[in-house]
Amino acid sequence: MNVIEKTLRQGFCCGVLTVSDKGSQGERRDTSGPAIVEMLESTGLAVIATAIVPDREEAIRETLVQWVDRLHLNLIVTTGGTGVAPSDVTPEATRRVLDREVPGIGEAMRGASLSKTPHAMLSRGLAGIRNTCLIINLPGSERAVRENLEVVLAALPHALAKIRGDEADCGGSLSETSS
Ligand code: MTE
Repeated sequence: MNVIEKTLRQGFCCGVLTVSDKGSQGERRDTSGPAIVEMLESTGLAVIATAIVPDREEAIRETLVQWVDRLHLNLIVTTGGTGVAPSDVTPEATRRVLDREVPGIGEAMRGASLSKTPHAMLSRGLAGIRNTCLIINLPGSERAVRENLEVVLAALPHALAKIRGDEADCGGSLSETSS
């Protein structure tokens, strides 16, 4: 069984949340959200929820909580609002709904992204867990989405299985992802 078949069989469900004032008002076409959907689906993950919300902490928080607590998603990837502008509040909204942070995901993405642009250090995106859902913040541009998500994709099936409580041996899963 390859990693895509394995992930599909494991039945992980994902949501993609675009955080953008202009996108939510129909003033800008969202290409970042669809790029995330495409990348997750090519890894064998099913995307069952998508939405665009404005850069407002409450709107972001409410969507995250609803998707985790009502839809029981396994993974939510957000895009946008991670920077240093006054309107950028996605990390603050995310932190308030997390039970535990997973700092290595942001560290890996920023580390890899610094070789592409020094602006990578300006993203304050977080990753962490609420219940059995992994939430990952990505920056807003489509290019940044592709460059950041590609860094973590290979680790996602194993991460999601562990978060759900699967007790498979870590070494065993690693050898399967590399085949
Ligand atoms: N990371 C990568 N890999 N590629 C990029 O182009 N853009 C940066 C950064 N991270 C970028 C990136 C820029 S310009 C900003 S301002 C921050 O992400 C925050 O972006 P956001 O406010 O749209 O979330």
